[in-house]
Amino acid sequence: MKEVINWKKNELPRTDVEGCIEILKEEEVNKARTFHESFGEYSKTPLQELDELAAHIGVGGIYLKDESYRFGLNAFKVLGGSFAIAKYMAEKLGRDISELGYQKLISDEVRKELGDMIFVTATDGNHGRGIAWTANQLKQKSVVYMPKGSSLTRLENIRKEGADVTIQDMNYDDAVRLAAKYAEENGGVVIQDTAWEGYEDIPVWIMQGYGTMALEAIEQLKSLGVDRPTHIFVQAGVGSLAAAVQGVFASIYKEKCPTTTIVEANIADCLYRSAVAGDGKAVAVGGDLQTLMAGLACGEANTIGWEILKNHSSMFVSCPDWVAANGMRILGNPLKDDPHIISGESGAVTTGLLVEIMRNDEYKELRESLKLDKDSRILLFSTEGDTDPDKYRNIVWDGEHHR
Ligand SMILES: Cc1ncc(COP(=O)(O)O)c(C=O)c1O
Repeated sequence: MKEVINWKKNELPRTDVEGCIEILKEEEVNKARTFHESFGEYSKTPLQELDELAAHIGVGGIYLKDESYRFGLNAFKVLGGSFAIAKYMAEKLGRDISELGYQKLISDEVRKELGDMIFVTATDGNHGRGIAWTANQLKQKSVVYMPKGSSLTRLENIRKEGADVTIQDMNYDDAVRLAAKYAEENGGVVIQDTAWEGYEDIPVWIMQGYGTMALEAIEQLKSLGVDRPTHIFVQAGVGSLAAAVQGVFASIYKEKCPTTTIVEANIADCLYRSAVAGDGKAVAVGGDLQTLMAGLACGEANTIGWEILKNHSSMFVSCPDWVAANGMRILGNPLKDDPHIISGESGAVTTGLLVEIMRNDEYKELRESLKLDKDSRILLFSTEGDTDPDKYRNIVWDGEHHR
């Protein structure tokens, strides 16, 4: 039986609408952007125009940020981890982040002053690779825990960066707790891409780091003559990425902020369920959280991110795996003059969803509720490339996970 897409319009009580996005003001996020620009590997990732696809499904434009080009790491995640580590080091050194570009951070002088550090984290793959890569550049140690069912290719890519990495017999949220315990017992620093009560600075820096991607997208859209997109679809695991994108757009565009839809894997749809619950509190989802969309397999929301999403986002959508698989196939097999995009499971779900909403009248009500039509200019983020190449081919070549 076909699993369906579920959706819930945001009707939650709004609380601290202005205050919750302070951390993602343009001037704050610009600090992260300047830091990222100091890396030799830095260049803007492409913003691809999918004109043929847009015409085919009846919308005005589709603009897709292709994060498979980010720092040669095949995913956007390093933006967050690298900035958080730099901010942490800046605080330890008692300096402002603006004084600490990449060259300074890797200098012997800084290394001597700070001594040995261990960066500890839990990950489905992409965040851990970003942490391991950054630690490696800094000649520091990293310890990475991956949840049950994690891809061995993703593990190997983390190990190649010199990390001590293992797959644990537990879900993502428990792996986060294990990372925190290890750090506490071994004098490590937890660099986790989600916040909880009492652990907030580092996840805020991570979200600011993701903001670089949103700022680039705004600039790139403008250079294409698009002053602002009408809609954004952004995927969520713990919701840090989605909240970062939402926060940057809300603080720049204010009441003209695009209509933003938060997209989750149905097995780990904690934000969607929180929207359904309706009282504004974040609902957690437990269990094994096995989904094709490994990057979205998180059942507990980032507490800071949730405040932003519940105050600013318009729609929460919960997607079965086939939606992501369709998105991968659509982007990998473009219509005639559209660019070819290699998008992984967590990267492609928003494209799969948008196409389904526009083509399938089962979702007419959702289409109408979002006011998606020929005038819509839609921004999507393909947050990863083929980070698990075997799985990518099983889906795109061999047709696994059809609806
Ligand atoms: C490729 C990819 N996309 C999206 C996400 C979701 O990000 P977040 O957990 O901040 O919601 C992740 C998280 O790991 C990811 O790896």
